[in-house]
Amino acid sequence: MKILLATQKPFAAAAVAGIKNIVETAGHKLSVLEKYSSADELAKAAADADAMIVRSDKVTEEIVAAAPRLKIIVRAGAGYDNIDLKACSAKGIVVMNTPGQNSNAVAELAIAMMIFMSRGQFTPATGSEILGKTLGIQAFGNVGRLVAAKAAALGMKVKATDPFLSADTIAAAGVQPVDTAEELYSSCDFVSIHIPATPQTVKSIGYSLVSSMPQGATLINTARKEVIDEDGLFKALEQREDLKYATDVAPDNLAQMSQEFGLRVFATPKKMGAQTAEANINAGLAAARQIVGFFKDGDTTFQVNR
Ligand code: 3PG
Repeated sequence: MKILLATQKPFAAAAVAGIKNIVETAGHKLSVLEKYSSADELAKAAADADAMIVRSDKVTEEIVAAAPRLKIIVRAGAGYDNIDLKACSAKGIVVMNTPGQNSNAVAELAIAMMIFMSRGQFTPATGSEILGKTLGIQAFGNVGRLVAAKAAALGMKVKATDPFLSADTIAAAGVQPVDTAEELYSSCDFVSIHIPATPQTVKSIGYSLVSSMPQGATLINTARKEVIDEDGLFKALEQREDLKYATDVAPDNLAQMSQEFGLRVFATPKKMGAQTAEANINAGLAAARQIVGFFKDGDTTFQVNR
């Protein structure tokens, strides 16, 4: 089988070598397409691929149509909003993710962003400490749980909400459960977003939630830019000079935000939450193993388009 590793944002060399080793040991062939600059390039590379490993690379209906041999796509990471699941399902293509494999890297970035923003983006102005502050975790999945544990170890009080988990499940992790996002935002000095981008969550965080946050609060987004209603966020930051926003991947209105709000807003130049050698190795090798298991035993454990 030909397995295509297509990553616009390349994995660390050690991860690529590990993927190659797993694929070739199982008797398959690996082809690598990195830093490509157009969908056409991806379509050409996918034309004779039986399987594909991607990161945030966009797998559209057109790409699926251009890859008639494709049987499985593994998103080496958590969020699969970049893959047209409907188009894949229509062609019988199995889509998987690798849940949990890059979570620690994202969680460490969320913690780093809280400290960075509390210290005025490392400028000499007097900052504040996160010790004793309250952190709200919006969605208690793999990343949310890790952020909660790290924040608690740093002396923060931690609350969480998750529409798919019971209060008991959250409490069992030593975190205070709250019923709604409204309750979380209005009672936390920091909120760290860990919801996926779905039709239900897109633009779900805007003016009313952000402006309900306490004095001096900071919103941290290491999830997806799509879950933010940017106009609403802008209005909240405009009305409240005490609020701050840090995000891993720039909002569409970043230039205007930076001009208006200066150091109260920070965005990474490129999505970097999962950009560590460890996360690359964990997610990349898991993806390769999942493909090998699928072809060998029909294993569909992490399928997301059932
Ligand atoms: C994920 O959903 O796993 C993260 O957002 C990482 O995305 P990336 O692999 O494109 O960095």
